[in-house]
Amino acid sequence: MTKGFQVAIDGPASAGKSTVAKLVAQKFGYIYCDTGAMYRAVTLAALQQKIDLNDQVKVAAIAENLPLRFETGDPQQVWLGDQNVTQLIRTNEVAQNVSTVAAIPAVRQAMVKMQREIASQNNIVMDGRDIGTTVLPQAPVKIFMVASAHERARRRYLDNQARGIATQSIEELQKAIELRDQKDSTRKVSPLVQAADAIRLDTTALTIDEVVNEIIKKVKDN
Ligand code: DC
Repeated sequence: MTKGFQVAIDGPASAGKSTVAKLVAQKFGYIYCDTGAMYRAVTLAALQQKIDLNDQVKVAAIAENLPLRFETGDPQQVWLGDQNVTQLIRTNEVAQNVSTVAAIPAVRQAMVKMQREIASQNNIVMDGRDIGTTVLPQAPVKIFMVASAHERARRRYLDNQARGIATQSIEELQKAIELRDQKDSTRKVSPLVQAADAIRLDTTALTIDEVVNEIIKKVKDN
């Protein structure tokens, strides 16, 4: 396989994309890029600087000058300048505001540019909402992962607990997930849609290993 091989994994919140993407990346020795973490980092920076998130010009300026850095580790460490924000980007405050930030066209432009730069230098597994449709439309392997909202809320609950993050109940998480899905799917710029050539994987009743093996097969077929 040539350098620059790309695996694009898209789907709604908590469909298991990051868990699976990390394992697929590990299997092939590829870089893993969590694009959701990038939108979360912009949101966190804007909140920390007390910027009105509806002020698109100011939020875009943050995105365009984001001192973002990923560091290998388990979990992958996310840095904003010299601040380790790995945990901070997962708080409820960030989760509740990230859709507003991700809907700003200039923010998306800045993130897509950064994502393409990362992908141009590495073999990569990238997960997000618009990777197969917008960021890497030429990716040879595109997966669209879905699961029921209840199952996704249950997974996020367990994940929060495992990370030691104060968590809402499964019911509350489900409501928040449904709201975020709705915002992500109906926004004007790069809404969450399945690319025409993506493989749809419903993971509601599948184990992580089953999903990972399915994707590994697709990569090997290329
Ligand atoms: O995958 P996640 O929950 O960490 O994503 C956080 C938010 O960022 C989510 O509301 C959708 C948005 N996002 C996006 O618009 N485009 C991407 N490529 C990745 C995430």
